[in-house]
Amino acid sequence: MEEKLFTNERETRQAIQAAADQANKVRLPNFINWKCVDDYIMVQNLIPAQLCKSLIRESSLPGIKWSKHSWYNYGSDHFSSVPEKELDVVNSSPEQFKSMGKYLEKALLNYQKKYSTLLKEKMLNQNPLPSKKQFTSWIRHISQVRFNRYHVGTKMRTHCDHIQSLFDGKLKGIPIISIVGLLNDNYGGGAFMCRDKKINLIRGDILLFPSNFMYPHEVKEITKGIRYSFVSWAF
Ligand SMILES: [Fe+2]
Repeated sequence: MEEKLFTNERETRQAIQAAADQANKVRLPNFINWKCVDDYIMVQNLIPAQLCKSLIRESSLPGIKWSKHSWYNYGSDHFSSVPEKELDVVNSSPEQFKSMGKYLEKALLNYQKKYSTLLKEKMLNQNPLPSKKQFTSWIRHISQVRFNRYHVGTKMRTHCDHIQSLFDGKLKGIPIISIVGLLNDNYGGGAFMCRDKKINLIRGDILLFPSNFMYPHEVKEITKGIRYSFVSWAF
């Protein structure tokens, strides 16, 4: 009886150890190819120069109320900021959002198509075949566009876009894809860094990347002029 118990315990321990070893193999690979992570950062030059200019002009009108950007802390449930380093933010008007809509949609469609093609090749062996929709429609919504204005001395500190309070007034969600647009490029400093790499951007560019913990990003301090950009999230 005792021997049987011992055998069972030993077998149990061995089974637990084997499962743990297997789990470690899967969960803790010795090597991660971070270069592949960079493959999911995409830049497309889509916004016409004229639209960039008019968005800057409109957002600079006297009646437009910019406010200081601040950071929300989920742990302590409060907002914080260092005002002298923070950029200014203002939400787009419905008309502005409409004028940018087709470019944002195109950027997102291209993004989904690019990465879904690879998925499609993988899924073609499935029986039954997945529907066409499954390849291209995993993005359902785009949040309201927010303009960002950076004066000299301001920056956006390193963060990830895993926003847990995204709410557009009707729908709640977490962002899947971050969308960043650049409206001008005649400023100094202000480099956009993603995963510690500089992403070269020019006026009219739309930059897309996954909004998760693997894509920390920042905007370096502005040294000359004013930097205008916008941000939105697909969810
Ligand atoms: Fe961000």
